[in-house]
Amino acid sequence: MALAELKSEMVPNGGPLKWTTEVNGRDSRPIRVTGCASPEYFAREIESIFKKSWLPVGRDSELPKPGSYLVHDLQALKTSVLVVRGKDNVVRAFHNVCSHRCNRVMRDDRGSCSTIYCRYHGWAYDTLGKLVRLTDESEFRHVNKDDLGLTPISLQIWNGFMFINLDPKPQESLQDSLADMYSGLDGYPFEEMTYCVAWKSLVNSNWKLMKDAFCEIYHIPFAHVQTAAFGYSSKAQPIPRALAIKLFKNGGQFSFRGTSEGGLPPTPELAFKYSSASAVSGTQAWSAGLSKPKLLNPTNSTDWLGDMFQLYPSLQLSIFPSMYLYHNFIPVSFDKMIWDFRMYTRPPKSFGEMFVNEYSAAQAKIGTLEDFSIVELTQTTMNSGAKRYFNLSDQELLVRANHELTQEKAGPYPSN
Ligand code: FES
Ligand SMILES: [Fe+2]
Repeated sequence: MALAELKSEMVPNGGPLKWTTEVNGRDSRPIRVTGCASPEYFAREIESIFKKSWLPVGRDSELPKPGSYLVHDLQALKTSVLVVRGKDNVVRAFHNVCSHRCNRVMRDDRGSCSTIYCRYHGWAYDTLGKLVRLTDESEFRHVNKDDLGLTPISLQIWNGFMFINLDPKPQESLQDSLADMYSGLDGYPFEEMTYCVAWKSLVNSNWKLMKDAFCEIYHIPFAHVQTAAFGYSSKAQPIPRALAIKLFKNGGQFSFRGTSEGGLPPTPELAFKYSSASAVSGTQAWSAGLSKPKLLNPTNSTDWLGDMFQLYPSLQLSIFPSMYLYHNFIPVSFDKMIWDFRMYTRPPKSFGEMFVNEYSAAQAKIGTLEDFSIVELTQTTMNSGAKRYFNLSDQELLVRANHELTQEKAGPYPSN
């Protein structure tokens, strides 16, 4: 209802847009900027979205054996999440909070343990979360030890990706939330892509602004002149466009082509030569025997490079034939977020492949620094209040979807 009111405020001008209006049935109205510049609205997002959605916490292969654990801090949600593989080999999540006097139990980011031990007064839990040692127990005759396990958090796994949901009774299963994505990527060899280059960055931007920068390729010839433009801009299409854009219930897909038409700079040219583990290998990998998952390259284009998939609110997977990128957009405050980025490939088998991986990782790092600097500047100028709206093109439909989903869940963006 509230969103309908917002939509009636501005009338779209001009004719239909292919992906926005014709294919996906959305309207083309501008989006208010206030949703990225308001501490009060951010608080609503935390309550209405992040405390009720499936949030990514990494790959289950990060917990290789019983007792392996990782800690995922969610500062804006005021908790720390402990994810642990139990002695029964099942992965579970708990609030990383002791039942005695609420100390943070596990302090390290990751490790391996036989018991989960609190260093304040020595209480210990097994890897299933049950309290197994209550020190000086006879002084606690009034409590029931069985009621004092760690507080569980819902955890579900899809294709090796672990998700938690802080809602004690999640409104929908992970499968329902993933919708088309749930089976649409079956057959992609996520489990073989074990070589990971990862980093986390604190970015001075609203979580949605940062995410928006990864939803389109319109910015590439301008923001990534040296680092990426050569792979996307062609004579026929100097400003690159999508092959297809499709919205799902909780996100969407953006399919895009690559090109080497204008010739490659020397280093990527070398990388291309050794490219069995590189993004620049394009469709060659399918002919190398990989069966194509249903959702990938939906237009069956010969110059297809990859597909971006978004699962609202926090996950983006950019999938290439021989590499995928994992982005987790973690909110911190209305103008700060943590960006958890990983690049996964098969382990390199030769120096050539090792070179490609290192090159791709270095390119990703430089390219994303270019994105950071832009979104951090955008955040500062947006806070000025000089502009009221984002005016989005047909190519920016996933940006629109991010903001529309946000408003559906947390209410319309503030009007001033
Ligand atoms: S707070 Fe954990 S043992 Fe006291
Ligand atoms: Fe970018």
